[in-house]
Amino acid sequence: MAARVEHLVTSGTFSLDGGTWEVDNNVWIVGDDAECLVIDAAHDADAIAAAVGDRRLVAIVSTHGHDDHVDAAPALSARTGAPVLLHPDDLMLWKQKHPDIEPTAELADGQTLSVAGVDLTVLHTPGHSPGAVCLHAPALGTVFSGDTLFQGGPGATGRSFSDFPTIIESIRERLLTLPPDTVVRTGHGDSTTIGDEAPHLDEWIARGH
Ligand SMILES: [Fe+2]
Repeated sequence: MAARVEHLVTSGTFSLDGGTWEVDNNVWIVGDDAECLVIDAAHDADAIAAAVGDRRLVAIVSTHGHDDHVDAAPALSARTGAPVLLHPDDLMLWKQKHPDIEPTAELADGQTLSVAGVDLTVLHTPGHSPGAVCLHAPALGTVFSGDTLFQGGPGATGRSFSDFPTIIESIRERLLTLPPDTVVRTGHGDSTTIGDEAPHLDEWIARGH
């Protein structure tokens, strides 16, 4: 059984710097009928657990530490036994939501995660947050971009711990170098491709967001 990508959208809030906003998040599930991996346990552990079903959940991968991407991770981990993985540079963001809980293990640039015969390579792509990562699955022709790259441009860099020149560097060096037909599966909103976004890099730099 070949690996596939499943998707659900969950709703909740994102809080940072004293503000709170309503958000819809993409939750991505990569796997087959036997095992799977969740990318960003956002908002709704019940809905994600239902989508996982009776499959073995090998890991809960956090693209970054913003609370809308990790708020359901401990609950999903508790009910499935799956480890929660986060890049250590985002631990301070994680701690704002989960002060008494540690992620299970650290993500590192170049690390490979394997599920259902598919390899996902961790790309450290700081800028939206210091510990933001993307996950590239060449065999599936896709990259899971979290909040680093969206349809139409980079992720937000206006709040604490973000940096625009840094996200541009990450996108230029780590994402736009992927094959143009790579499908970009984002943390919020619609998917896109590397080839559709790459021509717009200079516009983003000129406008500054
Ligand atoms: Fe974010």
